[in-house]
Amino acid sequence: MRIAVISDIHGNRLALEAVLEDIETHGVDMTLNLGDLVSGPLQPAETADLLLDCDFPTVRGNHERTVMAGGGVAAVDQFARENLKPRHLDWFARLPTTLAISGDLFMCHGTPKDDNARWLDANWHGRDTTLPDEGAVTAEAEGVDYPVLLCGHTHIARAVRLRVGRLIVNPGSVGLQMVHGSPDARYAILDRHGDRWSVMLCAIPYDHVGAAEQARRNGFASWVPALTTGWAGAEGLF
Ligand SMILES: [Fe+2]
Repeated sequence: MRIAVISDIHGNRLALEAVLEDIETHGVDMTLNLGDLVSGPLQPAETADLLLDCDFPTVRGNHERTVMAGGGVAAVDQFARENLKPRHLDWFARLPTTLAISGDLFMCHGTPKDDNARWLDANWHGRDTTLPDEGAVTAEAEGVDYPVLLCGHTHIARAVRLRVGRLIVNPGSVGLQMVHGSPDARYAILDRHGDRWSVMLCAIPYDHVGAAEQARRNGFASWVPALTTGWAGAEGLF
């Protein structure tokens, strides 16, 4: 079985199109989406329409919550909400916060219990990223008894093999790089060989200059450096 995993698209349709094109070349059985679909100053409605057409198994990210909430949220969430159609918000409301696939894979956005918590790294606002210790990572996996646990949220691609052999994978972000130091779109491919799962972490070039131009045109120049270079400033983007 071969599975593609995407996460944290953040309304970057140009990056999403490049990733979907790349996934096509790998002959996957299924693509899974870990949320944070549209929040950002790029193409929220166009991205949501493409994702609705794809109809991938999808969990809701913390930014679907804030986009649905409306007032008092970050400017990029407000921008997304103003550009979305009712069909998009209806879709977000139907999304589960976690999802299990065929007894093999468990999907969540942050951790199994919290869509706004960081699991495989302690990234915040780009520059002060640290790695958590083994105990903290292992504790979040307790009681979630699947061979593969999938998370997103931090935009940092990382794969952790627990001592018991289970795999935790964050595929990184399709649409917004903050600390990788590369603008390339990220996603992951998982392969099952018997009862063993392996993972490939992929970095795909796309029209990141075009995406940065969309941000600038929409009044969010603060997103331009991260989209252009893959390095976010210490001030953050949300
Ligand atoms: Fe995100």
